[in-house]
Amino acid sequence: MNKNNDVVSSFIYGVASSAFQIEGATAIDGRVDSIWDTFCQKEGAILNGDNADVTCDYYHLWERDLELLKNLGVDAYRFSIAWPRVVTSLDGDVNNEGLDFYQQIIDRLHYYSIKPYVTLYHWDLPQYLEDQGGWLNRDVVTAFVYYASVVSDYFGDQVASYATLNEPWCSAMLGYLHGIHAPGFQNRRQALQVGHHLLLAHGKAMPVLRQNAPNASHGIVLNLSPYDAGSDKQDDVLAAKLADEENNQWFLQPLLEAKYPQVIIDKYPECMPKMRAGDMEAITAPLDFIGINYYTRQRIFCDESNDVFGYRSEIPEDSEVTAMGWEVYPEGLFNLISELNERYQLPPLLITENGMAADDEYDEVQINDSVRVSYLREHLYVVKRLIEKGIDLRGYFAWSLMDNFEWAEGFDKRFGLYYVDYETQERIPKLSAYFYKDYIEKTKGQ
Ligand code: FCB
Repeated sequence: MNKNNDVVSSFIYGVASSAFQIEGATAIDGRVDSIWDTFCQKEGAILNGDNADVTCDYYHLWERDLELLKNLGVDAYRFSIAWPRVVTSLDGDVNNEGLDFYQQIIDRLHYYSIKPYVTLYHWDLPQYLEDQGGWLNRDVVTAFVYYASVVSDYFGDQVASYATLNEPWCSAMLGYLHGIHAPGFQNRRQALQVGHHLLLAHGKAMPVLRQNAPNASHGIVLNLSPYDAGSDKQDDVLAAKLADEENNQWFLQPLLEAKYPQVIIDKYPECMPKMRAGDMEAITAPLDFIGINYYTRQRIFCDESNDVFGYRSEIPEDSEVTAMGWEVYPEGLFNLISELNERYQLPPLLITENGMAADDEYDEVQINDSVRVSYLREHLYVVKRLIEKGIDLRGYFAWSLMDNFEWAEGFDKRFGLYYVDYETQERIPKLSAYFYKDYIEKTKGQ
């Protein structure tokens, strides 16, 4: 078998989900509130006033939903554990009912020979921690490391892969600068402080995970986009460079090179996070993988009228866009990873999320989401090209197994391979589910 065949057979195909978006059952079996439960109560925060009290009711329907995974023929399932189901008080009380829930899932996945890929933090900070200042309060780092130790001590190597955080950019920037995610603030200094605490929590949890699950692989998941200049004009080129540093490199550089990007330090000196000696060393703990969530690119123009960023992102007029209004741009994935590979000594990579929202309609016969099929096909083709180019890319996860609660967009946006009828809790395979199943089968069978 040549090297390429080895890569093909060990490559992991999966689907992804997250606890708050699918589980529901927010107030039973000992679960406490998270910042997203609170945020959903806030007038105007979520489109149509939706909340995730029930969502896909996966907490009760998980057996049926794991069968969907088996039908798809995936190698792995990326899901998150809800911190507020597991550690339920400031004193560190551990809720066994929470752990039992995930144990059943892990057992069933093993039974189906599907590898569990766990994310520890997919945005659902317990509200009792938010009441102490949340990610702004440095004590949250200790709380996260404790939570990570409880989970990894309990599940150990039953889990194939632990990711500490999902998209710290979103928690910090959408939560504390743009104000559209929980807890909903708009302050750059706070956003960067929160970002630092998130990275520190990640870094300090890594050795604990390694110790408790020595055979699992450990890393972090980042959302990254290429920031292309909208034109050749020097202003636009410069603005794109700054946007890249502020959004991508702000998270990558500390993880890989133990420092924050100098251009951003120079641009916002008054917003720099408070840190202590040893923080950067902790953040740069060795990684077994970086997970990249890729959806679209950003096309940047300098815009001084925008006093928060100094730039704006604009989609070319003739582009295809998703129901989220995001440009469909598979080449961006190729460019992004190629550039990162030139700039850094990268650990192995995974594409931990990729997918699109579409206006799916069920006409009682089928859900013909051919736009999603093309989207997936084109991105999977880029994955193939990246591997051929020699990038150490080890897996691809489609977002998402099924339609779910899409944060500030509520139930309005559908990303699933399976359609969810929220009235009946029926799951209906879309064309994209058949496509993905077929793709995996054919690629693995080669
Ligand atoms: C990512 C999130 C995921 C989902 C997709 C569409 O930013 O990680 O939970 O909402 O976007």
